[in-house]
This record gives sequence, C-alpha cells and structure tokens, in this order.
Amino acid sequence: MANEENASLSFADGSTGGDFPVLSGTLGPQAVDIRSLLGTTDKVTYDPGFLSTASCRSSITFIDGDEGVLLYRGYPIEQLAEQCDFLEVCYLLIYGELPNEEQKAKFDNTVTRHTMVHDQINNFFRGFRRDAHPMAVLVGTVGALSAFYHDSLDLNDESHREISAYRLIAKLPTLTAMAYKYTMGQPFIYPLNSLSYTANFMRMLFGVPAEEYQLNDVLVRALDRIFILHADHEQNASTSTVRLAGSSGANPFACIAAGIACLWGPAHGGANEACLEMLEEIGDVSRVGEYIKKAKDRNSGFRLMGFGHRVYKNYDPRAKLMRETCHEVLGELGLQHDRLFKLAMELERIALEDEYFVERKLYPNVDFYSGIVQRAMGIPNNMFTCIFALARTVGWLAQWSEMIADPEQKIGRPRQLYTGEVQRDVVPMSLRD
Ligand code: SDX
Repeated sequence: MANEENASLSFADGSTGGDFPVLSGTLGPQAVDIRSLLGTTDKVTYDPGFLSTASCRSSITFIDGDEGVLLYRGYPIEQLAEQCDFLEVCYLLIYGELPNEEQKAKFDNTVTRHTMVHDQINNFFRGFRRDAHPMAVLVGTVGALSAFYHDSLDLNDESHREISAYRLIAKLPTLTAMAYKYTMGQPFIYPLNSLSYTANFMRMLFGVPAEEYQLNDVLVRALDRIFILHADHEQNASTSTVRLAGSSGANPFACIAAGIACLWGPAHGGANEACLEMLEEIGDVSRVGEYIKKAKDRNSGFRLMGFGHRVYKNYDPRAKLMRETCHEVLGELGLQHDRLFKLAMELERIALEDEYFVERKLYPNVDFYSGIVQRAMGIPNNMFTCIFALARTVGWLAQWSEMIADPEQKIGRPRQLYTGEVQRDVVPMSLRD
C-alpha cells in the first residue's frame, strides 16, 4: 500500500522519533506505521484493549461503526443475508468472490463429504460429565481434531490449509450437534449427505433414531441466515486470538479451538446466552426500569447483555436482521406474543430513550435477539455460543489463512509498560521478616 504521508512525534525533551509512514486502506481509518518506534525512541505505545491499534492488513470484512455498515468482501450483510446461503458466504469469505453455480455445487459437495468425524472421536465425549457446558466439550473435541489429521498440517502448503478449512467448516456442525446430544443423553445422529448444510445440522441436533425428522424450511432458512450474520467481524477478540495462535505456527485445529475458548466469554460470544438469562431474570416489563438503573450504576458490575459494542456506535446491522428473523420465526411457530421477545423490544425501546445509553452510543448488538430466536427454535441457552462458534469458524479460517499468506506476518509478541519492582536481591529465609 503506498504511503501518502508521514507522521512525526516530538517529546517534551525536544527529541523526536523520526517520521512514521501513514498508511491508507480502501475504507476506514488510516494507520500510522509505528513499527520503528522502539528502535528509534526506546519507547512503546500503550493501548490496552487495542482501542486504536490495527494488528494487520485485511481485505475480508469491513465495519463502519458510525454508519452501522458491515461488508464481507465488499458485499453488505443485508444483501448477503437476503440473497445467499451460508455456504455461498463461506466460499466468499475463503476465496474472496461469490461462487458461480459450478463452483458452488463443487464447494457444497466437498463440504458435505467431510461432515463425518473419525469414529474414535465419539470416545472423547465419554470422558465429559453429561452436565458439562457444551462449549467446554466443543473446545476439547475441536482441539483434538489435530490428533487425526497428520496428513495436512504443513501450514506452508496451500492445499493443506484448504483441506483443513473444509474439514473444520464441515465438522463443526457435527461436533456441535454431538455436544448437544451428549448432554441430552441421546444417541449421536450421523450427517445425511442428501441434506443442505443447515438442514443437516438441524437434523443432527434435533433428530432421533426413533422417527424421521421433519424439517421446517422457514426455520432452516432462519438458522442459515443466523450463520451468515455471525460468519466474520474484523479483528474481534476471538479472531485476534486465532491470528495470535496461528502466528506461532500452531495448526488450524488448535487455533480454532483457541478462538472457541475466547468466544465463550460473556463480554464476547457468550453474551447471547447471558442476554437470555438476563431477560429471564428480569421476567416482566415492570422490572425493566430496575435493571436499566443497575446497568447505569458502574458500581453494580451489571451490564445490559446484548447491548454496546467496541466498534458499532450505531445500531448493529446484524441486530436489525436478527430482530426481523425473530419476527419471522416466532410468527411461523405461532409465538408472536412470546413474552421474552416483547420484553426485549420494550427493554430496547426504554434503553434507547435513556441519556446514559444515547450518550455512550450503546445499541443492541448481534447477541441481543439471537438468543430469543434460537430459544424459539428449541435450541437451549447453553448451546447459543456453540452455534456462534459454528458460524464464526469460517471467518476465523479466512482470517487465519490471510495471516499465514501475509508477507509481513510475524509471531505476535506485544510489549508492556512494566510497573513492578526494580531489581532486588533474594534475602535468605532465616533473615526474612
Ligand atoms: C460480540 O468485537 C466484535 O466484533 C464482537 C462481536 C463479533 O461479532 O465478533 O460483535 C460479538 O462480542 C458483541 C458484544 C457482546 N457483548 C455484550 O453484549 C456484553 C455487554 N456489552 C459490553 O460489556 C460492552 O459493550 C462491550 C464489551 C461489547 C464493549 O465494551 P467496550 O468497547 O470496551 O466499551 P466500555 O466497556 O469501555 O464501555 C464504554 C462505556 C462504559 O461506561 P463509562 O465508563 O463511560 O461510564 O459504556 C458502558 C461502560 O460501563 N457500557 C455499558 C454497556 N456496554 C458498555 N453499560 C451498560 N450496559 C452495557 N452493555
């Protein structure tokens, strides 16, 4: 990328750090390239949480937080959610272009034929308690996949990276469904190659050997759209985790397991489960005011789950699409008067009229409505983040692959501002106070 200008730094003692190139992308903020800062000034930058730090160049996803815009490879999320299916979006994120009919058919067919897992993986589940959180099971079983694929772990071989991506996109639904079945004490349901990706997942999740599973096309389409909305999101915490793990040369299965572990946190992908628990705790519209008050009190430690975002300072476009999907699914299931959905909409209305939220530009994010629609579909709260991980796997893989192929890529190793003890000598035990 051409540097259009330089930035310079000057310090109180009159010294300067030299010039720092200012880099421009195609959209979004410019970046000051400060890689030479430590070498020329013996100083580092300080940016906990990376509020103003770009960790990489990327051409995959772009968010305009002020305008509430989300683009996957330049395509608006609204158009992709409306006109494409999830595997089409997977192809786009991985290869950078939407597939034509032939490419799509080949991609679907290849993914479909990787949906089964090695039969010995079934044994891993037996080691977990039945009441283990499905995310704990998913982290463990996805990480264990690297024990089965010694044939494709050469990261510098593009074909190995590609087959690993196919295996992970294809097997996450199978492992997610198995994690759920295990906690339910029901037998695992094997994939059925005649079904679409999302229909296959729903059958593995809800089907039982005792009867034919009846698919509901409206629900299949809704879940497929939910996958699209969760597929990628720039350098969020779990994606940055995958990139950092990958920068050491760790295999893709280990990197995706690290991403799943990070996504689990309630401040990140765990917010959908926490949001539904919050709505169930509020219980009734009459108590919304009490919780809004708690959320505004920084000493309460309570936050409105599903609200706020590091980048979106406007309505998260995914939340809007998720709310529409909510209406669709609840209508299809005759639950349009769903108590929690009405409570969520009232909570949103009251919050968005409150100065505290308006001033801080806190809007509903993707997690605010996703729990309601999944719960209506029969997916239990503790499975919501697994569904998020299933969908985000393709984004993590696209970002991981971009990092591996980036000529500027180095192992990630941030510095620190040390605030501990200066050097001191050990005092023999007998002389210590
Ligand atoms: C995801 O990064 C991504 O892209 C993530 C994601 C993706 O697709 O990968 O979009 C998915 O993780 C969505 C976010 C899900 N998390 C939640 O819904 C949890 C609740 N929200 C937050 O905890 C919070 O909003 C974050 C973590 C999402 C963002 O936190 P920031 O950017 O670090 O903001 P902050 O904590 O500095 O908050 C700024 C102010 C603070 O108040 P003051 O210090 O100014 O007084 O806003 C307040 C915060 O207390 N605030 C909230 C709030 N979120 C922020 N107050 C009440 N309720 C909230 N939800």
